[in-house]
Amino acid sequence: MKNILVTGGAGFIGSNLVLALQERYPDAWIVVVDDFRSGDFRNLQSYRGDIVAADVSRLDFGRQFSRMTFDAIFHQASITDTTVHDQRLQVHDNVEGFRRILEFAAPNLTPVVYASSAATYGTRRTVMREDMAPEPANVYAFSKVQLDHLARAFSKQYLAWRIVGLRYFNVYGPHEAHKNAASSMIFQLYSQMVCGKRPRVFAGGEQKRDFVSVTDVVDLTIRAVEAPASGVYNCGSGVAYSFNQVIASLNECLGTNLETDYFENPYRFYQPHTEADMSRAKRDFGFVPQYHPKAGIAHYVETLKSADSAWVTD
Ligand SMILES: NC(=O)c1ccc[n+]([C@@H]2O[C@H](COP(=O)([O-])OP(=O)(O)OC[C@H]3O[C@@H](n4cnc5c(N)ncnc54)[C@H](O)[C@@H]3O)[C@@H](O)[C@H]2O)c1
Repeated sequence: MKNILVTGGAGFIGSNLVLALQERYPDAWIVVVDDFRSGDFRNLQSYRGDIVAADVSRLDFGRQFSRMTFDAIFHQASITDTTVHDQRLQVHDNVEGFRRILEFAAPNLTPVVYASSAATYGTRRTVMREDMAPEPANVYAFSKVQLDHLARAFSKQYLAWRIVGLRYFNVYGPHEAHKNAASSMIFQLYSQMVCGKRPRVFAGGEQKRDFVSVTDVVDLTIRAVEAPASGVYNCGSGVAYSFNQVIASLNECLGTNLETDYFENPYRFYQPHTEADMSRAKRDFGFVPQYHPKAGIAHYVETLKSADSAWVTD
């Protein structure tokens, strides 16, 4: 790949992706488009490529990049705080941004890999498979379902084009500190416990999440450029791990014995269980997640402990 476009490259997953691409393709020209509404420049300290500070839902991509063609487009930009309930904003910015990307990519059939979400599956308690009907429980999830619909519609028109959606589950790892309350439960609980505070979770603590390491997420995202055809794939660890298990793992890694402080869940819609069926990604990409959540947490804690601050850069 010689020219690569990454939207949302200042964010958590986007910056990990950009830095991995930079290492894997040292001669490539990488362009990040990000309006920094939730991203942070500190995630891109070692980045050497170009940055266009713009809103993807308003940018004229054809004009901005009139002299460039890209070999791949990775679309990560999105409002990512699922508690933002402004429907006009969530739907406009997330959907129109993607539409602009697809319209820009269509003439050259540039491969597009975009971030969908496990949130599209809603609050069901089963293992989640890509062929299940979407059940978005909030407007963020609804906007991601629209991305999947748009991708399907465009790919039907252009059979030779590859548009690949990745339904990320609960991603954790370096560069997520800027997300605050929207960061992974692993990072939030770590931040409490490393200061000696009791970890706080919703009553019971048996809510389960498919926690997936950002290293695995970046790996599958890059592999997805070589997809055999357009489609949507789960991107998780394939393991449902409870908040109580996360706390036990963190206590073990930190050498603490902090007791959990349970409190009532204020949200009406809250996913009780997420768990990815990863067989489709294995079949088409030979992808097997490297990190079980327990091992991933241990590795992440070591990285966090060895850093000067939460702004872990490697
Ligand atoms: N982190 C997860 O667990 C998770 C789970 C499911 C899906 N996703 C999806 O993965 C992608 C990356 O998420 P993240 O966790 O890195 O979040 P993030 O908030 O750290 O990154 C999103 C980036 O997009 C930028 N952005 C947002 N709207 C924009 C716009 N209209 N124009 C330009 N830039 C814009 C932000 O400034 C930020 O840098 C998102 O599409 C998100 O919906 C993430």
